[in-house]
Amino acid sequence: MKAKSSGLIVGISIGVVIGALLAIIGLLCFRFHRKRSQIGNSSSRRAATIPIRANGADSCTVLSDSSIGTESSRTSVHNGVSSWFGGPRKSHVVAASGILEYPYKDIQKATSNFTSTIGKGAFGSVYKAQMSTGETVAVKVLATDSKQGEKEFHTEVMLLGRLHHRNLVNLVGYCAEKGQHMLIYVYMSKGSLSSHLYSEKHELLSWNLRVQIALDVARGLEYLHDGAVPPVIHRDIKSSNILLDESMGARVADFGLSREDMINRNASNIQGTFGYLDPEYISTRAFTKKSDVYSFGVLLFELIAGRNPLQGLLELVELAALNTGGQVGWEEIADSRLDGNFDEQELNDMAALAHKCINRSPRKRPAMRDTVQVLSHILKTRHNKKHHKRSKSDVVITIGQSDRQSSMNSEHRRVESMDSIADSVDV
Ligand SMILES: Nc1ncnc2c1ncn2[C@@H]1O[C@H](COP(=O)(O)OP(=O)(O)OP(=O)(O)O)[C@@H](O)[C@H]1O
Ligand SMILES: [Mg+2]
Repeated sequence: MKAKSSGLIVGISIGVVIGALLAIIGLLCFRFHRKRSQIGNSSSRRAATIPIRANGADSCTVLSDSSIGTESSRTSVHNGVSSWFGGPRKSHVVAASGILEYPYKDIQKATSNFTSTIGKGAFGSVYKAQMSTGETVAVKVLATDSKQGEKEFHTEVMLLGRLHHRNLVNLVGYCAEKGQHMLIYVYMSKGSLSSHLYSEKHELLSWNLRVQIALDVARGLEYLHDGAVPPVIHRDIKSSNILLDESMGARVADFGLSREDMINRNASNIQGTFGYLDPEYISTRAFTKKSDVYSFGVLLFELIAGRNPLQGLLELVELAALNTGGQVGWEEIADSRLDGNFDEQELNDMAALAHKCINRSPRKRPAMRDTVQVLSHILKTRHNKKHHKRSKSDVVITIGQSDRQSSMNSEHRRVESMDSIADSVDV
């Protein structure tokens, strides 16, 4: 009897141990299966398209004006990760921007083996590239021995990849092969504002167009300051960094000196360009949004006077300010090539704004959104005056229409964007 019951106990114990073992094995199998399916899910998430972040009222998600196709030779960084970035974290950040990776050989061919030079700046050479798809782009090749350029490359890819606005020169891709680093931008067929202001080969920029350009730039900067998250300070606003598209729309180029942080107190070298630099920055080495506002003010005076800081622009402004008190009488500094063809009120309003922008005290300078309002108001008033005149002449007799048409044609045929007038705010 005793032997029978002890046999039963042994049997039950063995059964319990086997049961426990089976339960543990089952649990392990279950956990292993769950982990596998989790990995599967996350990799399919990675492969999914991550939308481009677009901020600000005027922002748009169009990557390029040069109508990018879907040709197979370019790889979206959503799918292919460049070895240049090294770590997976960085590549993920770039992937989120949605910019494209171009093969070196395609760029080489499109630039006729890097002979189609447009110009050369601190960053390196810029080439015009005719892609096999028919699109035209601008390729900026990083000078390999330039440390500053290397830094700019990383900064620009990260920043421009996620910033899209109709008044910014959008980055459409990059190439990082054979030890070369290249940035690929929308091609701006009409070149830089500085070339239009100072080169004989371009026809004179009319006053009307200068005000429109000022508003375009103000909008691009407003987006960087108030629309981008986190805000971006440009740090190098000047006429050679304002590029013009086919319809003479102005866009802000070169974010090479930009940083995501608002104030970079550790910068050892002075960044930016002589004459456009905020005096406050030179003494404190702290770049703020108001430093961009200062440079923008210099740019406005450049549009008014048709001369740059190297040609004594600021001395001229200082002298004129003594007479004008910052308000009226600015016409004395107007670009002589305009030959008096400007609206005096508009010129004085724009100069008064420019003067506020270059106030030595950053706190007294307007914000970019204020400059957009003032410039929109100038254009709105112009539009209203034109409209008023037109309806008056319509009553008398419909003459002068052909005159207006021909003056529109001679004025670079810029299509004055009605939305820029419509969304203006009274100040
Ligand atoms: N996207 C573009 N489309 C057309 N031309 C461009 C484009 N980007 C640059 N360029 C032209 O290439 C030339 C060199 O530009 P780059 O920005 O390298 O020099 P920069 O603006 O003169 O000086 P910095 O290096 O200080 O910006 C300029 O004449 C500019 O007009
Ligand atoms: Mg430039």
